[in-house]
Amino acid sequence: MTLPRRVKIVEVGPRDGLQNEAQIIPAAIKIELIERLADAGLSAIEVTSFVPAKWIPQMGDNDEVLRAVLASPQRKPGVAYPVLTPNLRGFDAALEAGATEVAIFGAASEAFSQKNINGSIAESLKRFDAVADAASALEIKVRGYVSCVVACPYEGAVDPAKTAWVAKKLYEMGCYEVSLGDTIGAGTPASIQRMIEACTKEVPVSKLAGHYHDTYGMAIANIYASLELGMAVFDSSIAGLGGCPYAPGASGNVATEDLLYLLQGLNIETGVDMDKLLAAGQFISHYLGRVPASKAANALLAGRYAA
Ligand code: HMG
Ligand code: MG
Repeated sequence: MTLPRRVKIVEVGPRDGLQNEAQIIPAAIKIELIERLADAGLSAIEVTSFVPAKWIPQMGDNDEVLRAVLASPQRKPGVAYPVLTPNLRGFDAALEAGATEVAIFGAASEAFSQKNINGSIAESLKRFDAVADAASALEIKVRGYVSCVVACPYEGAVDPAKTAWVAKKLYEMGCYEVSLGDTIGAGTPASIQRMIEACTKEVPVSKLAGHYHDTYGMAIANIYASLELGMAVFDSSIAGLGGCPYAPGASGNVATEDLLYLLQGLNIETGVDMDKLLAAGQFISHYLGRVPASKAANALLAGRYAA
């Protein structure tokens, strides 16, 4: 199959990336990061999550951050700012802060569902149904996530048919896109392709996104394997920030800079400006006192040859 000509990058660094940082990051830093990412040309930026602060303390400023981003004079038209909402309580709070897009997040593994959202897969689907119904009545867009699409930190390998079943449920609920999360980054091109092939029996590939953590350094290979199957939406995190607090040892998502370098090399359009992206990555890495966890960013910032 020929590769897609255009790819949408969904930037998840401010949520998936920062949720894992132990030190509380001021709202003003998060807001500036999000504005820089929008200025770099990213058209979808996941801002925060409306979950209890006792579960994810870093997202305790959700209301302040979302309101500021939406009211900013620098707000770019056409940029989507989704937020995670695990239940109606979170949905109502997100709505109150002005959210126009939310994301519900389930799992293909029972043990991860229990640890991450304190309920079975069946219970979580009931909660999500309520959120999806409320959102649809208000014309709020809903994105769906499935975690542990190939492997679970507690249960090991996950059956592709189970992932496909949960993806189908979310799609049938009205999710405009279902993002397939390799939460612990254990997938390889073969297991990722098997999983996508199972999912595309239930959900069109144009409605699926790849959300690959890079724990084993496989994320870029997994993205290429997904492109080969026609997938054209990928989640990534600026400077490779992140992990999941309920998946011990998992590292961040694929770095947005690495993803962009790959896509530019394949002549695939994204609308994202590499220089501005690098500057956004430097901004947050400087604040956190570390170098970006992106090979492409570090090579480009050092002035190395770029193809
Ligand atoms: P729970 O403790 O079972 O909730 O948590 P509950 O319904 O029993 O309520 C307990 C208390 O929390 C009550 O307050 C509720 O009102 C309150 P109290 O009466 O004790 O004062 N509460 C809330 N407060 C604020 N916002 C809310 C909310 N809901 C209830 N939304 C719950 C269940 C689902 C809320 C919890 O387990 C949760 O929020 N989990 C989310 C954890 C999380 O954010 N994980 C990381 C994101 S997922 C991820 O990173 C994976 C992803 O990137 C894809 C991948 O990589 O695989 C998406
Ligand atoms: Mg994730």
